[in-house]
Amino acid sequence: MNVPQERLQSIVEKHHSNKKNLIATLLDIQEEFHYLPPDSLRYVARALGMPLIDIIGVSTFYRAFSLTPRGEHTCLVCMGTACHVRGGPKILEEFERRLSIKSGETTPDGRFTLETVACLGCCAIGPVVTVDGEYFGHTSIRKVNTILKKYQRSEKAAPKADESPAS
Ligand code: FES
Repeated sequence: MNVPQERLQSIVEKHHSNKKNLIATLLDIQEEFHYLPPDSLRYVARALGMPLIDIIGVSTFYRAFSLTPRGEHTCLVCMGTACHVRGGPKILEEFERRLSIKSGETTPDGRFTLETVACLGCCAIGPVVTVDGEYFGHTSIRKVNTILKKYQRSEKAAPKADESPAS
């Protein structure tokens, strides 16, 4: 992936090029590119005057960061005990079938990343799924399609930056 240097510069400067703001800086880069591209880690190391190994250490320690490309939307299917007994595995299968990927993978168009999680902290409404942090409780196989459509629809509805508003 080609990482625009000016975008990285603006993120680093937003955080005052300060080592103390390393995590906030990396979070912004993660949000911008949906992962931490290798070039961005080298850039941050240079800009903050830190050893690259320290940046990599932080990037691999926190689950919020990913060193591999991720989709625009992250679907988390809970496989904790409470969700598991209420059909979590079937929900996961349905996501895998509809997205044609396995858990841990990203769709080739870069739209969705599918992952499992041990517990989302709201077992009473299981089985639970989140997409980009939005919770869907009492999920069923039928609801999986509705959930995915919501995110596919929102992409279609959002006009692209280069589209003329009055065309
Ligand atoms: S087990 Fe799924 S939310 Fe706790």
